[in-house]
Amino acid sequence: MFILGVLSVLWPALSGVWSFNFYAEHPTVYRGPDGSYFGYSVDFYQATTDSNSISVLVGAPKANTSQPGIVEAGAVYYCPWPGLPDSCRQIPFDNSNNRMMKVNGTREPVEFKSHQWFGASVRTHKGKVVACAPLYHWRTVKLSGEKEPVGTCYVAIQNFSAYAEYSPCRTSDPDPEGQGFCQAGFSVDFTKEGRLVVGGPGSFYWQGQVMTAGIAEILNGYSLKAILRRVPGEKHTRAAEDTHDDSYLGYSVAVGEFTGDSEQELIAGVPRGAQSFGYVAMINSTNLTFIQNFTGEQMASYFGYSVAVTDLNGDGMDDVLVGAPLYMEREMESKPREVGRVYLYLQTAPLTFSQPVALTGTYTFGRFGTAIAPLGDVNQDGYNDVAVGCPFGGEERGGRVLIFNGNKDVSTQGLTLSQELRAARTPSGSLPGFGFTLHSLQPPSSFLTSTFHRFPPCTPPLPIPMFSHIAFLLFSGKLISQMKGV
Ligand SMILES: *[C@@H]1O[C@H](CO)[C@@H](O)[C@H](O)[C@H]1NC(C)=O
Ligand SMILES: *[C@@H]1O[C@H](CO)[C@@H](O)[C@H](O)[C@H]1NC(C)=O
Ligand SMILES: *[C@@H]1O[C@H](CO)[C@@H](O)[C@H](O)[C@H]1NC(C)=O
Ligand SMILES: *[C@@H]1O[C@H](CO)[C@@H](O)[C@H](O)[C@H]1NC(C)=O
Ligand SMILES: *[C@@H]1O[C@H](CO)[C@@H](O)[C@H](O)[C@H]1NC(C)=O
Ligand SMILES: *[C@@H]1O[C@H](CO)[C@@H](O)[C@H](O)[C@H]1NC(C)=O
Repeated sequence: MFILGVLSVLWPALSGVWSFNFYAEHPTVYRGPDGSYFGYSVDFYQATTDSNSISVLVGAPKANTSQPGIVEAGAVYYCPWPGLPDSCRQIPFDNSNNRMMKVNGTREPVEFKSHQWFGASVRTHKGKVVACAPLYHWRTVKLSGEKEPVGTCYVAIQNFSAYAEYSPCRTSDPDPEGQGFCQAGFSVDFTKEGRLVVGGPGSFYWQGQVMTAGIAEILNGYSLKAILRRVPGEKHTRAAEDTHDDSYLGYSVAVGEFTGDSEQELIAGVPRGAQSFGYVAMINSTNLTFIQNFTGEQMASYFGYSVAVTDLNGDGMDDVLVGAPLYMEREMESKPREVGRVYLYLQTAPLTFSQPVALTGTYTFGRFGTAIAPLGDVNQDGYNDVAVGCPFGGEERGGRVLIFNGNKDVSTQGLTLSQELRAARTPSGSLPGFGFTLHSLQPPSSFLTSTFHRFPPCTPPLPIPMFSHIAFLLFSGKLISQMKGV
């Protein structure tokens, strides 16, 4: 089913009050194969820093590929921008079948790429691209070969002319106690120098793990045969005591500067840590040790489901945003309502943060905070802005993207809601899931989001959320700077 141009500004009549709006009447829309979960992850892509052509990468973790004998490996699509809805093409990160090895005298597959969710995460950094398959399974070469979801990632450089695989949890000894259930690539990001940051929430009986590696080191000396290769210079967090089991470190990752030095720190969501209150860990990127925590406020709110870093009060210091999409609001004498919340921690000095400023969702079961995207300074007032996804919000539960503006006095005045975007009604009814994933282009002018074809079952977020058909991606409108002062 083709549904185009379905995004609109909710209250366009108020554009006189809000001079700088995302113009969302005619979004660019891309569409992938039915049932492929096209739009599960998105990012902008610039082939080279000097090229001014920008395109869009879209993950479709259940797409079929040309890999022989593999079902629903998942794919990442390259979509030219501007482009027609069906102009996206699969990027050939991996064309191969499962590798085989002689085990006990017979040749058997040692890896399992069917249903591996390649494209569940995709991220770009100055022409470098990483995309991951967190449910890629590997069996040991040992006789008792169990299949375990170690996860794997692929990197590409030089506009997809060089590829390499990076599977940090694939070891000769995978098991749940070690890195066997790692699901590496569940989350990914880059440092400002372009070092890869990978979250693997299943390592060590679901304690979870974060690792980093350089792209050059991943590419240098890469060979298809070296399955158990260790990348030089790779760093990773280690196992803790078993009281940390089932906490999912690395469910989300981000990067920022919080110590006033030149080395960025890592931020990682641990949504089931701290007795299910959830916390977010700040991690030293030099030796991957823990520096400090931000702890959630309410049990089972999934604090740390999403994390983002940007400076929202213009003081030159990075601030931290944390999403808790299952947060319940308890008003006096009324039943608690699950609305979701986003917490903003303002950095006031190196390693010093304000009490969190809370942004609370308004729609019951809306999952406000599922996605958080720093937008840069959209309204050109000198302060950065941020978008928050509320994918099942709205009266019709179709999903909303909320734009919040930064200001000098965020700590006392909070963030200002300036726009609420929705996918408009279509002949087939509403399009739920709008705002499930978000990514912006900086310098600011545009952002990407996606929507689903059908309503997903209302389960709590699992390590891999159980969504039904995500049919296509909406590419939302551009900033119209001429609207200034309208
Ligand atoms: C992938 O191919 C298999 C086998 O041909 C088919 O059953 C499945 O529906 C396809 N999945 C998608 C998402 O197209
Ligand atoms: C290895 O091969 C022998 C002989 O074919 C068989 O009896 C045994 O079960 C096999 N072991 C495993 C773990 O597959
Ligand atoms: C980069 O690769 C894409 C996808 O293969 C292609 O369409 C595009 O023309 C390439 N861009 C450059 C600058 O080579
Ligand atoms: C991070 O670890 C390095 C290496 O031990 C150390 O030099 C640096 O001071 C640490 N940074 C912080 C903020 O703890
Ligand atoms: C990492 O750096 C911190 C801060 O300098 C230090 O306290 C800690 O011992 C280091 N850990 C390792 C494993 O090197
Ligand atoms: C972070 O929180 C966890 C869980 O409560 C705790 O075990 C850990 O010691 C904390 N880390 C720091 C650096 O405070």
